[in-house]
Amino acid sequence: MDPNIRWQSHAVDVNARALIKGQRPCLIWLTGLSGAGKSTLADALERRLFAAGRHTYLLDGDNLRHGLNRDLGFGPEDRRENIRRVGEVGALMLDAGLIVIAAFISPFRADRDLVRALVPGRFIEVHVSTPLSVCEGRDPKGLYLKARTGQLRNFTGIDSPFEVPLAAEVSVDTSSLSVDEGVECICRYLAAAGFIDA
Ligand code: ADX
Repeated sequence: MDPNIRWQSHAVDVNARALIKGQRPCLIWLTGLSGAGKSTLADALERRLFAAGRHTYLLDGDNLRHGLNRDLGFGPEDRRENIRRVGEVGALMLDAGLIVIAAFISPFRADRDLVRALVPGRFIEVHVSTPLSVCEGRDPKGLYLKARTGQLRNFTGIDSPFEVPLAAEVSVDTSSLSVDEGVECICRYLAAAGFIDA
């Protein structure tokens, strides 16, 4: 960091912004394989929180790769940079007082842990743990087929690793739970941890 760049403190801080919204900001981070159901769960969770009057924002991997992260590919370094940027954006949104939901494969433990460290006490890791065989069976975008036939390289679960979370706050396997049940699991945790009312 350039020593000539100094941190500026502002009078209106995260607590003030959260107070006016009547909520406790947090970053709900959904990690899992492509096709595991992250985006579907994230969407349903946001609708549920929004309907309850919460101020939310949803950051989704495919969408951010259309804009902010359009210059990044799927090699390990680009994935790391993808998650670093999303972590920083998530931290800013959290500072703005929002309940932020992020849905990214985020296959590397160290990258997820960096985001966790960026927002102490406010990071909720949700492992969308749907097994590879189920994700591949769904193959909603035909990407597993492309990866299996060598038309797509570095595909998570096929020729690029996914490091399973060791201590996720919540685990949701969408092959055995409905979307509503998955959302319910996450909300139960949020309520127990004091982020939302029961
Ligand atoms: S991450 O690994 O960097 O966290 P991210 O969540 O942003 O990935 O993007 C994943 C999406 O990109 C997938 O849902 C899929 O549609 C698409 N995609 C394209 N190529 C790949 C690939 N090689 N591996 C995984 N996903 C890919």
